This record gives sequence, C-alpha cells and structure tokens, in this order.
Amino acid sequence: MTSIYGPVTDWATDFDHADPEYNANAPEIWAQLREQCPVAHTDRYNGTWLPVTHELVTQIAYDTEHFTSRSVVVSPFLPIAQSPIGNAPPISSDPPFHHEARRLLLPAFSPKVIEPLEKDIRELCRRLLADMGDADVVDAAVQYAQHIPVNVIALMLGFPLEDAHLFRGFVHDVLEGVNIDMEQRILAFGRLAAYLDEQIASHVANPRDDLTSFLLNAEIGGEPLSEGHVRGTMVLLLVAGIDTTWSAIGSSLMHLAATPADRERLLAEPELIPTAIEELLRAYAPVTMARMVKEDVEIGGCPMKVDEWVLLPFPAANVDPLAFDRADEVLIDREENRHAAFGLGIHRCLGSNLARLELRVAVEEFLAHFPNFELADADAITWSVGQVRGPRQLPVRINR
Ligand code: HEM
Repeated sequence: MTSIYGPVTDWATDFDHADPEYNANAPEIWAQLREQCPVAHTDRYNGTWLPVTHELVTQIAYDTEHFTSRSVVVSPFLPIAQSPIGNAPPISSDPPFHHEARRLLLPAFSPKVIEPLEKDIRELCRRLLADMGDADVVDAAVQYAQHIPVNVIALMLGFPLEDAHLFRGFVHDVLEGVNIDMEQRILAFGRLAAYLDEQIASHVANPRDDLTSFLLNAEIGGEPLSEGHVRGTMVLLLVAGIDTTWSAIGSSLMHLAATPADRERLLAEPELIPTAIEELLRAYAPVTMARMVKEDVEIGGCPMKVDEWVLLPFPAANVDPLAFDRADEVLIDREENRHAAFGLGIHRCLGSNLARLELRVAVEEFLAHFPNFELADADAITWSVGQVRGPRQLPVRINR
C-alpha cells in the first residue's frame, strides 16, 4: 500500500515514513540526509521533521519543554489520544505525570520479575522450531519471530493465549494503519478498546496474578487509576512489546543468515551472544517514536512550529558515524556500545529487560536448532511499514 500522499519525490523535502520504500531503504536514506540536511522536512501529516544525527535526536528526546509526547505515532488524522483508545501512559504522558505513570510499572519489568520468564520463552521457541519440521526453506519472521512476543505479552497480561493472533492485528491497526481513512481507523481502535474492556471485565470478576489485575489494583497518590489509564496502559504494553521485539528478532536472524562468519562465531562462542545482541540492536534498531512541537523552537537551524510532528529515528542515531566508530559495520564483539535502540531520556524503554531476554533466547534456540542457515532469496524479504522497522517475510534456507 502506498502512502495516501502518493510516492515520495524527494527524501529531504517530501519524505514519508509510511512509504514502503522508507523502511526497505532506511540506512541509505539516512546516510543521504545526513550529508544533505541533516533535518528533513515534509508537508505531509500537517508538517513533519526528521532529524537524522545522534546529536539532534538526543537533544530533542531530552527536551520536554518544547516537545510533547502527547502523540507518538504520526498519522494524518488524529493523535491516538483523541481516539477511542485515549492516552497510553506513560508513553503519551509528559512530566510531571509521566514520572508517576512510569514509576508504577517499573517493578513489573524489573529483572527479578522478568528473568523467571526465560523457561517459558525457551519452551515456546523450541515448540515453534519443532513445528517447522524438516522443510528446506522456512520463514524466520512468519513462522518464528512474530509468535514470540505475542505469546509472552498474553501470558504477562493474563489474556487467553489462543487470542494471541488477534494482537498482531491490533498492533497493525495502531502502527501500520496510519494511512487508512479516519473512519476505518476509529473503527479499528474501537475493536481494540472493546477487546480490552472484555479482558478488564473478566479480571474484575476473577482477579489473577498478572499485569491486568496489577493495573486494576494500582494507585497513584492514594487513588485508583482511571479506567482510561488502565486501558491505555494495556494498549501500550500490547503495542510496545509486539512489533518491536518481532522486528528485532527478525533483523537479528536476517543478519546471521546473510553473514556466515558471524553465525559461525556465535556457534563457537555462545558466550558472545549477549554482546552480539547489543550490536544487532544498534545496527538494526526497530523503533522510531514521534513528538509534537509544544512551543516554537529552532533545532539544527530549522524553525519547528507548534503542533508539527518530529520523528525521533533512534535507528538513524545509532548509525551516525559521529557517534560510533565504523558505524555502518556490524561488529558482533563491539565492546563500547551505548546505542539508542531503547530510546533516550525519560521515556527510555521500560521493557528492555524483557526484550533482551526474548531476543537472546530466540537467537540461542534458532542457532541450536538450525546451526546452518542462509537467506533463501534476499529479494523476497519484505519490510514493515511505518515507525517500527523489521522484516515481515524472511525466507531462510536450512542447510542440513
Ligand atoms: C527490541 C524491542 C524493543 C525496542 C527496540 C523498544 C524501544 C523503545 C523505545 C525507543 C522507547 C522510547 C519511546 C519514546 O521515546 O517515545 C520505548 C518505550 C517503551 N517501551 Fe519499548 N521497546 C522494545 C520492547 C518493549 C517491550 C517488550 C515492552 C513491554 C512489554 C516495552 C515497553 C515499553 C514502554 C512501556 C515504553 C514507554 C516508557 C515511557 O514512556 O516511560 N518495550 N521502547
């Protein structure tokens, strides 16, 4: 599907992150823009900026005075905050409320809570791999990566595991459906809201030891959370944890399929996998979030006006040669690696412990089951559209 605005004519002055060409060619586009601008602008979406250097992305991510997180997904129609879903705290919150909404969730994502999930995640990965049978070509995105985060978040939220396939549809509606018409988008958000209401009702009637019951019992300043807060946070956890991790697992396996030396090194030195995962997160970071301009401000010589969007391409910041040595190379033993894949500033990813665990276990298990694999057809790889970037079809040939 092309963008509602039509094909891009010039990436510096008419870019569109929802043009299918953008994610497919993002590293080349960022490199070109870094030379040319380095802040691109488009009139699309009522005015959107795209800074591509580490310095400018960092400056904006830390500047909560001139930029608001009220809506972090760029869309032509309406910020998510005005949709049937409402706000999604803490990602759509600004200080001072952001601090409270975030603090509430910290214990649920601490290493102590996340580490015990390793066994379930490993079993899930093994089951998915066993289900692939002895086919010569398997799809590492469709048959593997996409299933891991949906099952994990269903488990954490206490949703029926058989509904996991529905979540990918919801995430698609929120993140990739930015170019469908407004009525369709509102209907899609309504479906998600209705599903969450059913789950909330079931947990009110029958409380359990899971994140949904945790949110229903949580308090800020001695008051229970509003219904909108509970639902919005559930939306956030569904959306934030699925496409992102699916993309990171897919990109990591894509790299290993395309780079036999790295695959063989990880087989020989499995203790290097956590370091390699950090480098794969840097090189193939999946998440770009947005801000809206709250007060007119000049950034990088560009006049940003109230209510314009600014994309924060953490993936572009990660490959800026001014911030990293040999930035465009993947060095799986890179030691110093302060990458921005999980964001910068007050909204830094709350799920990073969980994401790293899923990613590590997914890669370990894939390598253990299929020690020798390669890209079956590089031209057959397809990419997601929009602010989360990762392979959506990834055929790999298994060499036995
Ligand atoms: C590889 C996988 C992931 C990546 C690359 C990633 C990346 C990010 C980034 C860049 C942000 C900052 C957003 C901003 O500045 O507006 C963020 C925030 C967030 N992420 Fe993740 N994420 C991943 C997985 C997860 C998972 C598995 C969860 C939990 C289920 C999660 C939950 C969150 C939450 C709750 C926030 C909002 C934090 C706040 O606003 O204070 N993420 N993530």
